[in-house]
Amino acid sequence: MRTDRTFTMLKPDSVEKGNIGAIVDKINAAGFRIVAMKLTHMTSQDAQEFYAVHSERPFYGELVEYMTRGPVVAAILEKDNAVADFRTLIGATNPADAAEGTIRKLYAASMGENAVHGSDSDENAAIEGAFHFSGREMF
Ligand code: RTP
Ligand code: MG
Repeated sequence: MRTDRTFTMLKPDSVEKGNIGAIVDKINAAGFRIVAMKLTHMTSQDAQEFYAVHSERPFYGELVEYMTRGPVVAAILEKDNAVADFRTLIGATNPADAAEGTIRKLYAASMGENAVHGSDSDENAAIEGAFHFSGREMF
């Protein structure tokens, strides 16, 4: 299992607000190499599958609704210790708790609309990357 890749999505609120460029700048400045990247619009089935781990949680319906209301930017990122370092860069799930300078502190409106996704393990990074990209789309 490789430890130098993570998967991210710039969520629909980031795309709607015109924050793609600013967030990609932060990702580049933090030393991540972009392996794959595209604008894509998830279906409800896609989002249900992607967030299946949360299917019993009270916010699941809202989460699927949010993640499918418009396109997202999906990307695979490479850097040593990618998963943990990217979670540090994005900050806490709730932007109110996120550290200064983190992507969620800067660009997230609330816990439910928190600007970016970051994989939580090397295993999930590989699964999530393969969910969105074929081998021919990774560079
Ligand atoms: P993500 O998977 O999107 O990177 O976020 P995360 O690990 O920081 O948080 P997670 O616990 O995996 O939750 C997934 C997403 O569900 C929404 N959420 N809403 N209203 C709520 O209480 C609540 N809790 C979670 C957020 O959009 C969160 O990013
Ligand atoms: Mg998560």
